[in-house]
Amino acid sequence: MTEIDKTNRKGIVLAGGSGTRLHPLTVSVSKQLLPVYDKPMIYYPISNLMLAGINEVLIITAPDQEHLFRNLLGDGTQLGMQFDYAVQEKPEGVPEAFVIGADFIGDDPVTLILGDNIFYGQGLVQQLRHAVRSDRGATIFAYIVSDPQRYGVVTFDDTGKPVEIAEKPKRPRSDYAVTGLYFFDNDVVEIAQSLKPSKRGETEIIDVVRAYMTRGDLSVERMGRGIAWLDVGTHQALAEAAAYVQAVDHRQGFKIACIEEIAWRQQWIDDAQLKSLSAHYGNSPYGEYLAGLLESRL
Ligand code: DAU
Repeated sequence: MTEIDKTNRKGIVLAGGSGTRLHPLTVSVSKQLLPVYDKPMIYYPISNLMLAGINEVLIITAPDQEHLFRNLLGDGTQLGMQFDYAVQEKPEGVPEAFVIGADFIGDDPVTLILGDNIFYGQGLVQQLRHAVRSDRGATIFAYIVSDPQRYGVVTFDDTGKPVEIAEKPKRPRSDYAVTGLYFFDNDVVEIAQSLKPSKRGETEIIDVVRAYMTRGDLSVERMGRGIAWLDVGTHQALAEAAAYVQAVDHRQGFKIACIEEIAWRQQWIDDAQLKSLSAHYGNSPYGEYLAGLLESRL
């Protein structure tokens, strides 16, 4: 086990939105609380923030859903973390996360992850830790996809420098999608506050990223094929993500995005705390897995 230093960087999980694309699943419950195999979707983005060393996290929810997230995750002390909660009244743009979270962010750098993004795989932790170390400028992650027109798209010049960034372009100039994981310095709060809504009536995260690119302060890390990036916004993607998590779980016996395990391995909680978390989950396979960690010590 390695002790992972906590950073002063703040984390935000944006878990609002109306989720209409997933109706009727999301009529009464947020998308980010739906199951992805054996755990709620929001465990996955939280696990990514934790792996980056971020332990102070603001969870932004739709107005009628905050209590459900609180019931699930509490104040974070059980994981050696701190969870704060805020509400987004209407889904008027991803950059609103920085406006809503301005007091929470204070003078610190901040990492935003969209609550329906899942990252897992070889080399991910190193990339996260590298990004967290820089507290100037912005770092985003680009990932090759077969359908870039559905995402923010970044184009590079011959030297690998990012030169163009566009939201859902009809004719994408590259296959590199911008993932829903963004590392910013503290200037992001002011940039987000000054944004105007786009034609679709929302402020756009791509405009924030472009502001950093224009001033030469944007670093784009490419995520390789060894990393799975899943954006779980459709019924099909939800089923595929569950199948992926199940396959890895079944084959290796290791869980993806088990936030209690990560907290324990990073020494944010001790054996006794892990034991009580295991008891909290009763006799579910998830609870048994946590208990098993204490015995196997792999
Ligand atoms: O997943 C990566 C993509 O995420 C990026 O490539 C795009 O550049 C970025 O704009 C975003 O695109 P989406 O089409 O996925 O954005 P969507 O509006 O669906 O919002 C993403 C998630 O954030 C969604 O789960 C709901 C939540 N959300 C969104 C908005 C606009 C909120 O909680 N509040 C909001 O105001």
